[in-house]
Amino acid sequence: MAVERPPVALVTGSAGEIGDHLVRHLLARGWIVLGVDRRERQSGAPDALVFRRCDLEDANEAETVLGELAALHGCADVLVNCAGRIASAPLVTRTSGGWTAHDFGLWRDVLGGCLTTAFHASVITARNMLAARRRGVIINISSVCARGNAGQAAYSAAKAGLDGLTRAMAKELGPLGIRAVGLAPGYFDTRSTRDALSPEKLARVAGAVPLKRLGALPELARAIDFVIDNPYVNGTIVEVDGGLVL
Ligand SMILES: NC(=O)c1ccc[n+]([C@@H]2O[C@H](COP(=O)([O-])OP(=O)(O)OC[C@H]3O[C@@H](n4cnc5c(N)ncnc54)[C@H](O)[C@@H]3O)[C@@H](O)[C@H]2O)c1
Repeated sequence: MAVERPPVALVTGSAGEIGDHLVRHLLARGWIVLGVDRRERQSGAPDALVFRRCDLEDANEAETVLGELAALHGCADVLVNCAGRIASAPLVTRTSGGWTAHDFGLWRDVLGGCLTTAFHASVITARNMLAARRRGVIINISSVCARGNAGQAAYSAAKAGLDGLTRAMAKELGPLGIRAVGLAPGYFDTRSTRDALSPEKLARVAGAVPLKRLGALPELARAIDFVIDNPYVNGTIVEVDGGLVL
């Protein structure tokens, strides 16, 4: 009798703070967890994590690395697109000589890190799921900034693009048995949030949340569980933000 293997999750951006938390959470659920990131794995990352370095902006590299992982450990049942590039920069800045425009290289980096990575990983994983005759779910880590945040135009555009990708995938892949869902965190208590915002701005942001605090990573993991475990959730963007966007 064939023994059913544990479910497999693939987490992109697994060397980041949120990715690392989600990896540990899914391992604790008894899953096989595969992680990819452009950087080296987190120091102290769990031994059970199967990790490969991969720049997901490079389609060929993504094909090779994700293909090897699927061949060795099985096709993912869940893909969590957590890779991202958080950046803040005004569209134009007044300087002594006049006005300076947003750095166009930064625009490309943010679009690449947040959106192109998710496109490549999603297309390759969906193809692998279908070839393996498995159903699955693709979870895109978006942001409340997708609604448009002053001072974060590139990041806002990238996350809004990711939400569009989520909805298109939900419609196109749903009939084939693959769901796509976005998770839009508000401001979580992470290193990248603290790097992006001054302590004063952070205090103002926390004060603007109806719950009067930043999010904690286990609260995001609980949202991941909800999306994975409810087979009728598809195409929506789940806001996990303490009511910030109301
Ligand atoms: N921290 C927050 O409060 C917050 C809020 C809303 C949304 N998010 C989103 O959650 C995700 C994770 O955020 P985080 O705080 O852990 O950030 P992080 O910077 O710690 O992690 C992001 C990871 O993505 C990886 N990455 C970037 N480009 C890549 C590429 N081309 N190929 C492979 N890996 C690549 C980075 O190397 C990094 O390890 C991001 O998508 C971010 O936009 C975070």
